[in-house]
Order: sequence, then C-alpha cells, then structure tokens
Amino acid sequence: MALNPDRFLDDLHRLRSFGASGVDKGVVRPAFSAVDIAARRWLASRMNEAGLKTHLDPIGNLFGLNGEKSLLIGSHSDSQPEGGWLDGALGVVAGLEIARAAKETGGPPVSVVNFQDEEGRFGILTGSDVWTGQISLAKADMLTDTDGVLLGAARSRMSGRAREFLPHDMFTGFIEMHIEQGPGMDVSGDQIGVVSDIVGIRETRIKITGRQNHAGTTPMALRQDAFQALSDFNQRINQRFAEVANPATVWTLGHAELSPNASSVVPGTARFSLQWRDGDPARLDAMETIMWEVAAEIIRDRNVKVQLGEVGGIEPSAMDPRLKSALRDAAEDLAPGKWLDLPSGALHDAANVSRVMPTAMLFVPSIGGISHAFDEDTKEADLVKGLEVLAQAAFSL
Ligand code: GLV
Ligand code: MN
Ligand code: MN
Repeated sequence: MALNPDRFLDDLHRLRSFGASGVDKGVVRPAFSAVDIAARRWLASRMNEAGLKTHLDPIGNLFGLNGEKSLLIGSHSDSQPEGGWLDGALGVVAGLEIARAAKETGGPPVSVVNFQDEEGRFGILTGSDVWTGQISLAKADMLTDTDGVLLGAARSRMSGRAREFLPHDMFTGFIEMHIEQGPGMDVSGDQIGVVSDIVGIRETRIKITGRQNHAGTTPMALRQDAFQALSDFNQRINQRFAEVANPATVWTLGHAELSPNASSVVPGTARFSLQWRDGDPARLDAMETIMWEVAAEIIRDRNVKVQLGEVGGIEPSAMDPRLKSALRDAAEDLAPGKWLDLPSGALHDAANVSRVMPTAMLFVPSIGGISHAFDEDTKEADLVKGLEVLAQAAFSL
C-alpha cells in the first residue's frame, strides 16, 4: 500500500486551521461549535474525494465508508477548550490517508470514523458512548455543558444532514492511533506504543451552597463560605484518595466556579467537577464511596449544602489480542527495538468501541509529555512512523 506522508501531514495542518489558536500549534474546536462543524464538513469532502461514502449519524459521528465490510480506523476531531493540534485529529487523518491509499493501490477495504464530543463537552466520550449503546440518545440529549447548554440543542445544528446509526457488524475491528499524551515514550525514546488497556474513569459535578454575605462585616465564626468548604473538600479528598491509590491512580478537581466571584463577598456557591481514573473498577468504587463520605463531613463541619450530580463513568477496557499482535509485528518490523507495550491513562473512543468489536490502539510520543494544552506536539518523523505501522498492521489484518 503506497502511503503519501506529505499529503497526510498537509491534511493534519489543514485540519488545524479550523480553530487554530495562534499560540504554538494550539486549537480551540469544542464539539458542535461552528469551527467543529466546519472541520467535519471539510473532512467529509476529503473522504468523498478519496472515494469513500460519507455517513453522519444522529449524534454527529462522521464515517467515510468503503464497502459493506471493512476495518475501521479513526478517532475524534473535537478539542478541549484549549487543545493541541494532534489529540484526536491524528487518528482521523491517519485513517483517512490509509483508507485513501488502500483505495488507490488496491489495498484492503478500510473505513474512517470521526467521533463527536470525545473531549466531553457534554458527557464522557459522548459520540462513541451513544453509538456503542452505553447511553441512549434520549439520555445524551439531556446532558448539559458547563454553561447549561443541552446536547440536544447543540446537535440540532448538525442534525439536518444526519441519518441512522450504523450497525457495528459492518466493521471487522477498530484501530485508533493517538499521541501518548504523557511523558513515558518521550523519556524512553520509543517511537511506537502498543496499548495494552485503557483506564477506567468516574466523574461528577458538585455544587456547594453556603451563604453569600458581606466580606467586611461577617464574623469568621458565622460564615458559611462556599469556597472554604470547597477547599476543605479538596484537602480531605487528597488525603483520603491517597490512602487507597496506587502510583497510577489519578484524580482532578478540574472546573471550578465561584459565585458571585468578587473580592468583597463571602462566596455563596461553588461549583466544580471531580474526576478520578484507575485500571481497577473496585478502586474506582472505593473512591466514589470516599467522595460521598467526604461530602457528608463537609455538610456537617461547614454548615453548607453539598449536592452531588450523577456519577458518569467508563469501565477499564482491554485491547484485542489479535489486533495488538498485528500492531506489535508491524512495530517490530518498522521500528525494531523502538516500541513498547503500555497502558493508556487517557481515555479514548477505543474504550467504548472495544465493547462491540475487536479494538486496538497505537501511540506515538508526545514531546515533553504535554497534551490538553496549546503546546502539544510530536516530531514529524514519529507521526509518519505511526502512520506506517498502522497501515502495515491494517494490511496484515
Ligand atoms: C480524553 O481526552 C481524556 O480526558 O482522557
Ligand atoms: Mn483524544
Ligand atoms: Mn483529549
């Protein structure tokens, strides 16, 4: 199969132009934003030019299909509120180049997918969550972003062109290529990572309600300060989670908002997200129990109300042995001695897709281990090596 690495890199740069931040190689392309929709339109046109049949499903996942039975390759093109140019985009454009090269040179049938809202503006891996039946479209429609926008309203911007959900048995398997997004391979000097499994995650939004009051006249002992309660909650979580964590366990208090957020007002409300990740479902459960216990302690000790939202999550997932071994063989052939097996601490659509078909992932290194940031980057030689390994594995399958 004759790949065209220049065309692949050129497409990656063109995709970056939709929502390019102007800082480093940053991208701002949240799911269902105007630039996200424009990027999906452009990708659909590239798929058409490659001779693939485009198909948009009701949640906004875009497919480029080659025939009735094919291997599926892809990822997502939405970004974090401040994202890099490769997170997701790399896997979609790699799938496009491999499907296109296969069509041009008589390779195997390969289809491409570009999942919607992988980055969780509304849920967690929302597009693949709905396609694989982890949540219903009706339930997804009721999810809100942090500004209170309903997913149902956001997706109506695209729904005019949408058709049915595709059956999973059209595809023999799914492979997702991605940047590692952590420091492992950058430090070890490996060029290719074959993913063994993907961590599980739990996440919820929390609201603390205290009593908004004057910052000069309210005695300390009488305050019901929502920020102090949040801070106390965070300290107790750090201590209690550390007691059950192993070195790979992580947790993040990632989105906090105070109201009214003014220097002379005792904060009346605090809203924030809490997320935790681990490879062991029992540990994820234990951490959830701790969260509920800490919330009860804060209500008791801080004289505030604490409301916990629904806890969403994805269970840990193992990758398929046959697909992994195709990736390993190709890696050993094209990057001898410069590849490794490794787990993924980041979440990926592959976690959901692994519930409905054989699924595997390969990683290329992230410079400095940086991702979900404007300065995320990977050496061109590593991007191309990943493309070649993926193409050879697809061919051998
Ligand atoms: C996906 O981007 C994640 O947060 O791991
Ligand atoms: Mn991603
Ligand atoms: Mn991401």
